[in-house]
Amino acid sequence: MIRIDTLRKQFPDRGNLVNAVDGLSFEVPEGELYTLLGPSGCGKTTTLRCVAGLERPDSGEITLGETVVFSSAQYVPTYQRDIGMVFQSYAIWPHMTVFENVAFPLRVSGERYPRKHIDESVERSLDQVGLAGYEDRMATQLSGGQQQRLSLARALVRQPKVLLLDEPLSNLDAKLREHMRQEIRLLQQRLNITTLFVTHDQIEALAMSDRVAVLRDGQIEQEGTPEEIYTNPASEFVADFVGGSNLVTGTVLSRSTGAVVVETKFGPVTAVPTSGVSTAEGTDVAVAFRPEDLVLLERGAVDPGAANTWPVEVMLSSFTGAITDFRVVTESGQEISVRSPSRNASKERYLFMHAPAAICRLLPRSGVVTRA
Ligand SMILES: Nc1ncnc2c1ncn2[C@@H]1O[C@H](COP(=O)(O)OP(=O)(O)O)[C@@H](O)[C@H]1O
Ligand SMILES: [Mg+2]
Repeated sequence: MIRIDTLRKQFPDRGNLVNAVDGLSFEVPEGELYTLLGPSGCGKTTTLRCVAGLERPDSGEITLGETVVFSSAQYVPTYQRDIGMVFQSYAIWPHMTVFENVAFPLRVSGERYPRKHIDESVERSLDQVGLAGYEDRMATQLSGGQQQRLSLARALVRQPKVLLLDEPLSNLDAKLREHMRQEIRLLQQRLNITTLFVTHDQIEALAMSDRVAVLRDGQIEQEGTPEEIYTNPASEFVADFVGGSNLVTGTVLSRSTGAVVVETKFGPVTAVPTSGVSTAEGTDVAVAFRPEDLVLLERGAVDPGAANTWPVEVMLSSFTGAITDFRVVTESGQEISVRSPSRNASKERYLFMHAPAAICRLLPRSGVVTRA
């Protein structure tokens, strides 16, 4: 439904050119929610604005449905693209009522819609976002969450084939954000509307998407389902950005069937090999482990000769309800994050940290895991 092929966009920056979008290619099948996830400045908004026709790419091709809306030979202006867009700022009109805000795209579309069509369309989309009854309010009299819904209603009023969402939840408080996350996903699935979603928030991306592309410097570092991205990160960058892994670097000491031993600054670490990562002796690698996969043990519970078990000192423990987040430090001075269910959390200051080999993910020192 959405197809992006080798899209490029540069901007001038103090005499240089910045590659905001650097050869991006991806496809979003009909009815799916596809997320571009990455840190600030990685090119998310620029990509979305290119799809919307608000930014003119330098090269590449953009296809929406059957229509090529951008190529070296073709340029379809924004108002003729079958899209609805929600901006990070909402961009609603403060001097207009709720009704007029939602009607706006119909009034400026160039078509002369009969009044009945406008009324019905506005009612339908206000209903879809749960704002029926608010027609006559001024937009500024709405709460943050309601303004968010209003911008969504306005994006949907022309019943577009494609919905573009640029960090739509970032101005909401934590509780409302979580609620709206589910509402948007439910609405997207109910309308079966193909959606390109942009966020820097990895939890949002994991929770809402059919597929996620992790962006770095205008390029896709890894694409996959939320489960794939989280379970099998392809690089140090993805392991760290999505889910926050602990990373330790080292060199391969030895390998046998099913196990690779890596010399690191806190001693040998035994990991399971990752297909696509070289494990020849002497190779520089990184080992990533998720905070929730690590186990903290009291002295009495430790098997003295066990692999991947190191003494640590607890620097901080934060009780957050069901889980407790620990910050511990190894004897070599490396700080590590550990998450434990609070009911198992020890109160002792000196503990042992155990990393089962199966959860130690081997990654290349630079670049990404090459797919077989
Ligand atoms: N209009 C512009 N003029 C100059 N540089 C821009 C412009 N828009 C974006 N950029 C630059 O392009 C890069 C990508 O920006 P953007 O797409 O906004 O990133 P994101 O939405 O991921 O935070 C950044 O380095 C940003 O400074
Ligand atoms: Mg942005």
